[in-house]
Amino acid sequence: MTRIGFAYNQKPEPIAAQEAAELARADEEPPSSGSGLATLVAPAPSANDEYAEWDAPATISAVAKALARFGSVIPLEATDEFPERLRAERPDIVFNIAEGLRGPNREAHVPAICEFFGVPYSGSDPFTLALCLDKARTKEVLRARGVPTADWWLVRSHEELRSLILRHPRVPLFAKPVHEGSSKGITERNVITSPDALEPVVSELLERYAQPVLVEAYLSGAEFTCGVLGNGTSAQVLPIVGMNFSALPTGALPIYGYEAKWLWDTHDAPLDIFECPADLSPALRAEIEDVVLRAYQVLGCRDWSRVDVRLGADGRAYIVEVNPLPGILPDPADNSCLPKAARAAGVSYDELIGACLQSAALRQQVRLGTSAA
Ligand SMILES: Nc1ncnc2c1ncn2[C@@H]1O[C@H](COP(=O)(O)OP(=O)(O)OP(=O)(O)O)[C@@H](O)[C@H]1O
Ligand SMILES: [Mg+2]
Repeated sequence: MTRIGFAYNQKPEPIAAQEAAELARADEEPPSSGSGLATLVAPAPSANDEYAEWDAPATISAVAKALARFGSVIPLEATDEFPERLRAERPDIVFNIAEGLRGPNREAHVPAICEFFGVPYSGSDPFTLALCLDKARTKEVLRARGVPTADWWLVRSHEELRSLILRHPRVPLFAKPVHEGSSKGITERNVITSPDALEPVVSELLERYAQPVLVEAYLSGAEFTCGVLGNGTSAQVLPIVGMNFSALPTGALPIYGYEAKWLWDTHDAPLDIFECPADLSPALRAEIEDVVLRAYQVLGCRDWSRVDVRLGADGRAYIVEVNPLPGILPDPADNSCLPKAARAAGVSYDELIGACLQSAALRQQVRLGTSAA
């Protein structure tokens, strides 16, 4: 029987019910420091920050159950003991959803350890995972390879900010920390509509997040997120998820940032923001699918990913960012884009996990069996 190692990071327990609900949603796209409206003004460090990206027990058991159809599942929690456990177990393949713990290369750690021990694994390689966590480097690769992405400036210091201001970049602009996910540091304030706002907004982001700030041309059109499954010429875009910004509170800006993800969308009162499949003309759908697949290929994504796209004022599709370790919440009641897109294509949660595993097995010549069960 195929031995499938399952690498994950599980959120620590015990946690209170309310917190559990917030954290369960957090593995879709992890939240920023602290929680609640107050953090929009001044985020306070939270005891849970460290674990925000990690997976809830419900996700881990749903994935393990789906994997069990293909062999015996060996849980390999990505703790300090992961390297020793991997070496001792030597599974035929590792199914990886571990987000990692520290630093801008955290998502690359488990795949790098698998490579070190010569163990096949699912998903993108360490290089692609680290690359996609750096939004500026990602844009450099996209631009160099002719994949549309908004113009940008990387601001690493107050001095660079001053020189950017002197160049009078045309507003509207959008500013965000260069290597965060989950809309950490992304609120309505990041939409810069007047030249005077550039200095205070970017200064604050530089100081608060202690990392370079990406200043981009603001993409004023509709937003989509696209699940991709498979590899090479077999890679395909799942039904496109459209963001229905009219579901946001009156007066809210049309961005899918911190407020929309973590304040206005709760487990008990989900925001009806996703439309899947998005209502698109065949031409626009083809254009979005084309830029998404080109981004997926040039960044070296494998097996699956989720790619964010927005339209510019010219109506053309631009890549916003690429998530090679996509959120996969199993509960259809949760707003989790990849499982949602899969469902719209008639692919169940178990089949989605199975498709990723099968793609990984195929490209590494690993034979998958069936479980004894
Ligand atoms: N250049 C831009 N123009 C307009 N809106 C933008 C731009 N960049 C980002 N946004 C808005 O901010 C949101 C969050 O940005 P982005 O996807 O880069 O952050 P993230 O925190 O990594 O997201 P995720 O939660 O998907 O990991 C986008 O979904 C989009 O609504
Ligand atoms: Mg995003």
